[in-house]
Amino acid sequence: MDSIMNNATMKAIQIHAYGGPEVLTYEEVPRPIAGPDEVLLRVAAAGVNPSDWKTRRGFADFPESRRPPRPPLPLILGHDVSGIVEAVGPGVIMFQPGDAVYGQTRLGETLAGGTGACIGAYAEYTTTFATNLAPKPATIDHLHAAAVPTAALTAWQALFEYGKLEAGQSVLINGAAGGVGHLAVQLAKARGARVIGVASGRHEAFLRDIGVDHFIDYTTTPLEQAAHEVDLVLDAVGAKNGDRLLDVLKPGGRLVPIFLGQYSAERAASVSVTISLCLMHPDTAQLSEIGRLIDSGRVRVALEMVVPLWEARQAHEHGESQHLRGKIVLRVMK
Ligand SMILES: NC(=O)c1ccc[n+]([C@@H]2O[C@H](COP(=O)([O-])OP(=O)(O)OC[C@H]3O[C@@H](n4cnc5c(N)ncnc54)[C@H](OP(=O)(O)O)[C@@H]3O)[C@@H](O)[C@H]2O)c1
Repeated sequence: MDSIMNNATMKAIQIHAYGGPEVLTYEEVPRPIAGPDEVLLRVAAAGVNPSDWKTRRGFADFPESRRPPRPPLPLILGHDVSGIVEAVGPGVIMFQPGDAVYGQTRLGETLAGGTGACIGAYAEYTTTFATNLAPKPATIDHLHAAAVPTAALTAWQALFEYGKLEAGQSVLINGAAGGVGHLAVQLAKARGARVIGVASGRHEAFLRDIGVDHFIDYTTTPLEQAAHEVDLVLDAVGAKNGDRLLDVLKPGGRLVPIFLGQYSAERAASVSVTISLCLMHPDTAQLSEIGRLIDSGRVRVALEMVVPLWEARQAHEHGESQHLRGKIVLRVMK
């Protein structure tokens, strides 16, 4: 089987240089094979994340002191996948061919410098560790499932691992309508928290519909004037003026950014706030639990845009507008 697969090819979006969306190239590449503990997936849909265009740009926008090393090229992007198990590698007992699964590729390992070129999900086939996958939620299609893994795991870990959010507490989510934000809103509500959502005004009805208790339009109202005594802030926006988020927290509160922002450690200490940057990691148990919440109807996945694989450039151009409601997904399987 493997030797047949070895000679096979597939269509994929690759980058051969770092740069703008024009470096995303649709081409024929070798089809991967599943190694030990890996699964070969026939990709039905690939989720698109901000990390994808940050990587494509070669992390050019990062401050030099915090710029990650560039992975070797060519590179197939895409952390998130939903698809069908085509074959399993040695040691895999969790899944078998034909299973519908969703989860993450091993691209994160490559970006972290841990391994050589791992293959992403912008392709007809990909390989990943079985432990990066969970059964696809039965009530949603592959397009919606591919939107979930990175955003939902980030939301889950920011809220509950780093943020230690408990039922009855309050959480302010900055960037509430985006990929991470809209799932964080619903996961926090499902946990029994009170949710304050910060987004531009055009998202208000959407956010109230998915459970936001108090909405702040950041284009008209400084959030530090509209929220006080909050237990947890999840900052999905980052960038400048992060210190104003400290003003909405109660003493002993927690600020969990998921991207680089400007926060003063001295100021945080003076108001007894802890700041911990959330770095998402794959977790199949959490992904399974998130799948159960989706199947119970308590978490809904919003799609901003779906385009075919070969139009990945359009997906990146749109994504970089930075004002998304929900996720962008590439349709791979017809
Ligand atoms: N640490 C990790 O492991 C990890 C994991 C995943 C993602 N991330 C990072 O987290 C960030 C968010 O990811 P995402 O997928 O949620 O991005 P996204 O889907 O692009 O969402 C960003 C949201 O922020 C809103 N926004 C923009 N400016 C804002 C402002 N000044 N105040 C409040 N909201 C604002 C946007 O819509 P409106 O302006 O229209 O409201 C949009 O809904 C990205 O930088 C991503 O790279 C980190």
